[in-house]
Amino acid sequence: MIKPIGSNELQPRFVYDVAEHDKLSKEAESLPSVVISSQAAGNAVMMGAGYFNPLKGYMNVADAMGAAEKMTLTDGSFFPVPVMCLLESVDAIKDAKRIALRDPNVEGQPVLAVMDVEAIEEVSDAQMKTMTQKVYRTEDMEHPGVAAFNSQGRFAVSGPIQVLNFSYFLDEFPDTFRTAVEIRNEITERGWNKVVAFQTRNPMHLAHEELCHMAMERLGCDGLVIHMLLGKLKPGDIPAPVRDAAIRKMVELYFPPNSAMVTGYGFDMLYAGPREAVLHAYFRQNMGASYFIVGRDHAGVGDYYGAFDAQTIFEEEVPKGALEIEIFMADHTAWSKKLNKVVMMREAPDHTKEDFILLSGTKVREMLGNGEAPPPEFSRPEVAKILIDYYQSL
Ligand code: ADX
Repeated sequence: MIKPIGSNELQPRFVYDVAEHDKLSKEAESLPSVVISSQAAGNAVMMGAGYFNPLKGYMNVADAMGAAEKMTLTDGSFFPVPVMCLLESVDAIKDAKRIALRDPNVEGQPVLAVMDVEAIEEVSDAQMKTMTQKVYRTEDMEHPGVAAFNSQGRFAVSGPIQVLNFSYFLDEFPDTFRTAVEIRNEITERGWNKVVAFQTRNPMHLAHEELCHMAMERLGCDGLVIHMLLGKLKPGDIPAPVRDAAIRKMVELYFPPNSAMVTGYGFDMLYAGPREAVLHAYFRQNMGASYFIVGRDHAGVGDYYGAFDAQTIFEEEVPKGALEIEIFMADHTAWSKKLNKVVMMREAPDHTKEDFILLSGTKVREMLGNGEAPPPEFSRPEVAKILIDYYQSL
């Protein structure tokens, strides 16, 4: 199987040893503690699960700036985005060497992780601006990722962490949330040799299903890992449980047995387009995928990014040799009325726009909300039914 980034074996920051876990949980209750941001909590869950291997904890400002500016940390290692714990106030943890980080997303704000504090630094406005611009390619506060990043505090607390749980993800998505360690194990158990990963934050329509089939066929893969985001989304996006049910139905009905796994990870959506695509590829290598699908407007929002910016970044900005995982760069897929199947549009050069079935997201939402299933060339009827039930329950 493909090796993780930065080490031969994954080194997840979750404390698996039961005795050590008990000890740490007890110690945590007496440590100075602070409630962290949802973004910082997502970072802890990802480090706990091995996805951000070999990171051991939150970055200091020099590393975060290096990640933002050139995807390179001060020790020369590669990481595509800052992984920070930004706090509004550090009064409660001043001078403490060891602190407990409390989860903002779980009732009672239990301890999510324990941290050995190496530095507390104040991030300047100029540094926030640079990081925002480099990661999101805009500073527009209307951009949901920019708003979330900048609505955190300005004190960066950095140092290694030990993770005690996976926030709300295991309770809310017991069948779907998986760590990178678990996905690697399951790939081995299933006997798959070549695995392609598919990122999604949306239900999958026929174009997405066919995109996955095309990638598997062309790359000669025997396994597909559908790996959905389970964290926070912007208003209007379809909630994870509904999307999960729709994707499971699709896999049950339209994928051969033992060809696809439906899984998810606990992280809030950044909507950072190209940069997020690189982060996505990074953690798919860590979970054991050899290939990663990047299609049209990957991780995009509004019109902040060009439709294929999330593909060109791999050639233009990712340092050579930083990633071993290969990117399956897909063109816009859609149903061809001439060929009676889903195709990549660039592979049907004799077609005009009218030869494809193209429906905007707004149009599809409107139809589903009215109880109307999109045409079967766009959506599987069984998937459409789940989405209609959701929209009609609003
Ligand atoms: S994402 O924000 O998680 O990337 P989404 O769930 O919509 O969004 O897309 C998942 C993946 O499918 C991304 O790689 C995206 O580029 C790709 N994709 C979505 N729709 C299409 C399409 N019609 N043609 C080609 N690729 C697509």
